[in-house]
Amino acid sequence: MSEVIIETKDGVTEIRLDRPKKKNAVTIAMYRAMNEALAAAAADANVGAVVFSGNGESFCAGNDVLDFMNGIGADADGEPPVGRFIRTIATFEKPLVAAVQGAAVGVGTTMLLHCDLVYASETARLQAPFVSLGLVPEAGSSLLLPRRIGYALAAEMILLGTAFDAVRARAVGLVNAVIPEGELRAHALGKAAELARQPPNALRAARALLRGSPDELRARIDEEGRLFMAALGGAEAREAFTAFLERRPPDFRKLA
Ligand code: COA
Repeated sequence: MSEVIIETKDGVTEIRLDRPKKKNAVTIAMYRAMNEALAAAAADANVGAVVFSGNGESFCAGNDVLDFMNGIGADADGEPPVGRFIRTIATFEKPLVAAVQGAAVGVGTTMLLHCDLVYASETARLQAPFVSLGLVPEAGSSLLLPRRIGYALAAEMILLGTAFDAVRARAVGLVNAVIPEGELRAHALGKAAELARQPPNALRAARALLRGSPDELRARIDEEGRLFMAALGGAEAREAFTAFLERRPPDFRKLA
């Protein structure tokens, strides 16, 4: 059973996470489904934009914690599906739009830094608690987040793991607008359709200019990836994930 719903309509491909009981935490199979949808959207001249959304209370609770503990898998060419997803959205040539309600944790927040337009409902809570999980930031967020919101606020998000609610996320420029939850998905799809009607060559060129050279971002994603994988196999991450699954606070002092 696929836990990602893919629909293409009005020049827009919607990638909707559909694992609401697990707050749309992303499994290896879900990354693979998203990667296939992104490849199809990139190749289809009739698709002008892609929307990420999620069913249920939460947009995305980040990478599935059990996959983090048991292994993140690899495609036939050896690349982990999560790595392919990050690389793909970081270099995607068509606009990306997101509709965010409830929790957006880990990759649920860092993927938003690669979106051109982000809409959030009043319930949205953006969180990148990498250090709290014994990890380092990923998806280029160590580069993009301080650039977007400034070092002080990026340190608050990454080093302390502070969640930003919709109003604060809007105020600091992480989201474009706060939209009533009942209208959120339709609003994001409508804006994506608007983008898809723009002249495609001008849109692509303008996007590339806005984003700047991808080389620095690629290099940072690679560096983060190396540190992330090392941290993932470490005692701090194991304690953080075990504590989450056992529904208790982590105790890192015993590791010192
Ligand atoms: N991986 C695997 N399962 C997850 C998950 C994740 N990232 N996030 C949530 N779940 C599961 C919970 O284990 C729980 O499963 P259960 O009902 O079988 O016990 C279910 O989803 C509901 O989560 P719960 O924590 O009870 O919901 P909540 O509303 O109290 O909190 C979150 C929602 C998203 C704030 C909280 O689940 C959370 O912090 N998740 C972990 C996020 C995370 O660390 N992600 C990795 C980032 S790198």
